[in-house]
Amino acid sequence: MTDLATLELELINAIGGAESVAALEEVRVAALGKSGSVSGLLKGMGAMSPDERREQGPMINGLRDRVSAAIAAKKAELEAAELDARLQAERVDLTLPARPRRKGGVHPTMQVMDEMIALFAEMGFAVAEGPDIEDDFHNFTALNFPPKHPAREMHDTFFLKPDPETGERKVLRTHTSPVQVRTMMSQTPPIRIIAPGRTFRKDSDATHTPMFHQIEGLVIDRDIHMGHLKTTLQTFIARFFELDEVQARFRPHHFPFTEPSAEMDIRCDRSGGKLVFNTGDDWLEILGCGMVHPNVLKNCGIDPDEYQGFAFGMGVDRLAMLKYGVPDLRPMFDADTRWLAHYGFSAFAAPNPASGLS
Ligand code: DAH
Repeated sequence: MTDLATLELELINAIGGAESVAALEEVRVAALGKSGSVSGLLKGMGAMSPDERREQGPMINGLRDRVSAAIAAKKAELEAAELDARLQAERVDLTLPARPRRKGGVHPTMQVMDEMIALFAEMGFAVAEGPDIEDDFHNFTALNFPPKHPAREMHDTFFLKPDPETGERKVLRTHTSPVQVRTMMSQTPPIRIIAPGRTFRKDSDATHTPMFHQIEGLVIDRDIHMGHLKTTLQTFIARFFELDEVQARFRPHHFPFTEPSAEMDIRCDRSGGKLVFNTGDDWLEILGCGMVHPNVLKNCGIDPDEYQGFAFGMGVDRLAMLKYGVPDLRPMFDADTRWLAHYGFSAFAAPNPASGLS
């Protein structure tokens, strides 16, 4: 056997035995690469005499062509096998059922806010907003808080660092009532708004978190009285809890920004370890409300002899817990996806009064 025939046999065997595209590439480099065995033979042709070249040339070129062809064929075979293996491994069984349930969901607080917005929108209320960081004027002074009122004290309010130039200390708003002030100062009556948003207080226990949510309401017009307030809130609460009507009482209370002020309670029975509305002798406090204090109207540039109005404010998280049976407040703000998978709502079911709220 000639040297060429031996080399060809070795190379063809090596090509045949290559088990992967990478192993085949090694064989190719050893034969046809820059310093490969076949390349060496091709280079050697330059030093041959014309006669030798005429004889050897076709044999060496033939060897190169057959080796190249064998490599190309083997490469195609290996690539097809690798693709097959991948297709097998990545196979998807389309007959399997779809994944059972989404992980995320709309948080009950946001769900309830959307429900409240839908109900009040139907009664002609617009949505107003204000900043989470407020100044003393909007959060307290304009709302008729006396200078030494305890709510201004450190234990209730988160104060920011004083401004180095003015010494003014901004606050994280302790309620959504400053949006009343912002609205009255920027609009002329008639005004009919609700203001949902985040509120902050230095308070943390089983029923309080330092951040929570409120919805504020404000109506200002020429002949607004307590009757409007009662009907609006009773209608809203009945619809919110999906009841035909609600048995409510308005218990006198005190807020600096309303006169008279009241808290609204609804009749309930808690005796069976369960909360049932409209029966029993218990009362559940739902919200604070009242007629806007003349001082507040004046502070906001509205003439109290011409206009009156009512306002109300309620805790959204607490109403979400009551409506949807969430037992504990604190996990509401833990951002635990398991909790949300249990208590969350579908993002595709936007609440509206016509098709149902939840
Ligand atoms: N701002 C009050 C609070 O956070 C709630 C409130 C009570 C708002 C009576 C009102 C209102 O608008 O009229 O406790």
